[in-house]
Amino acid sequence: MVTINENYLKLKAGYLFPEIARRVNAFAEANPNAAIIKLGIGDVTEPLPQACRDAMAQAIQDMGDRSSFKGYGPEQGYLWLREKIAEHDFNARNCGIDASEIFVSDGSKCDCGNILDILGKDNTIAVTDPVYPVYVDTNVMAGHTGEADENGKYEGLTYLPISADNDFTAAIPSGKVDLIYLCFPNNPTGAVATKAHLQTWVDYAKANGSLILFDAAYEAFITDPEIPHSIYEIEGARDCAIEFRSFSKNAGFTGTRCALTVVPKSLTVKASTGEDVQLWKLWNRRQCTKFNGVSYIVQRGAEAVYSAEGQAQIKALISFYLENAQIIRDRLSAAGLKVYGGINAPYVWVQTPAGLSSWDFFDKLLESANVVGTPGSGFGAAGEGYFRISAFNSRENVEEAMNRITANLKL
Ligand code: MLT
Repeated sequence: MVTINENYLKLKAGYLFPEIARRVNAFAEANPNAAIIKLGIGDVTEPLPQACRDAMAQAIQDMGDRSSFKGYGPEQGYLWLREKIAEHDFNARNCGIDASEIFVSDGSKCDCGNILDILGKDNTIAVTDPVYPVYVDTNVMAGHTGEADENGKYEGLTYLPISADNDFTAAIPSGKVDLIYLCFPNNPTGAVATKAHLQTWVDYAKANGSLILFDAAYEAFITDPEIPHSIYEIEGARDCAIEFRSFSKNAGFTGTRCALTVVPKSLTVKASTGEDVQLWKLWNRRQCTKFNGVSYIVQRGAEAVYSAEGQAQIKALISFYLENAQIIRDRLSAAGLKVYGGINAPYVWVQTPAGLSSWDFFDKLLESANVVGTPGSGFGAAGEGYFRISAFNSRENVEEAMNRITANLKL
């Protein structure tokens, strides 16, 4: 008899974004004339940078000639891309990351889930609340949790509440946890972490033999020069942290797919025999067995991000989305809403007005303004009473959405 992975039955509802899409589609079907503006899922809208498109067009030409044709590439990514990443993203900030420690992949969401392949099943796990749901759901799928309670909290996970009271940065747990998920700039709250804050996490991880899984998918949106972009800017992080990065949000690759994970060679974990095992070796083995690498064409596109033109073009793209975020912040604050984030991140975290629940506010905005956002409670129990608005859209749509929200809501 076929059996299933029963852990999937523990998952609450659908994955957040498909669930939102389902509700929006139902509304659109019932209201075919509604001009819906989507500021929900953080999906980019602006065209790919010209430098990336030119490089990919050239790569297609390379594929048309036997002398430059490429079949399977290295599972870890082409060295010419990994060297550029090491130089620009890490070593320009004195992170001491070697190209061989970088694994190019098709997405940091995928890697955040896949990393569990190389970790044991008895680790204790800490996540913030609210949190990017992938960290929680992938652990549920892997059988690392018990059942969810009525608030959607899974037994066995340590939830670290983040709110305006602690600047959306979690307090260090009082007990010992093995795995700690951190995301900065934060999805969903748009908050950032100072070097001092990250140092406390690294010190904790080193003292407790813990592993930090650091999601830096939004690092390119950091505008404050004092804020670290990588966990490896923090002393000691090479020995206790894995970092996930993406080309999705800085260069508009959500549909093109390219990301990277850094696993330092100095990062070791004890096997049950007491032997120190390099996580790099396990991840390398996992990738070589289960992954055939990102396409040559896409990697050439990603490489172009690091050219002079590419750098100027992604800078303009990021500034554009950050200006959107500023418009959202300004308009909603002027309308009397309390807003957070959106300065070093493409997400604005809004307190719902008049004590409305997150999903009630979602319905209200959809029905009265035909604007889609993301209910804060979809990111965890502590997100209740909040709403995330994404700055990823055209200027016209962002301005129109703000006009409609402020006109339609009696705040
Ligand atoms: C989000 O909206 O939170 C992101 O788009 C999710 C993702 O990048 O997977």
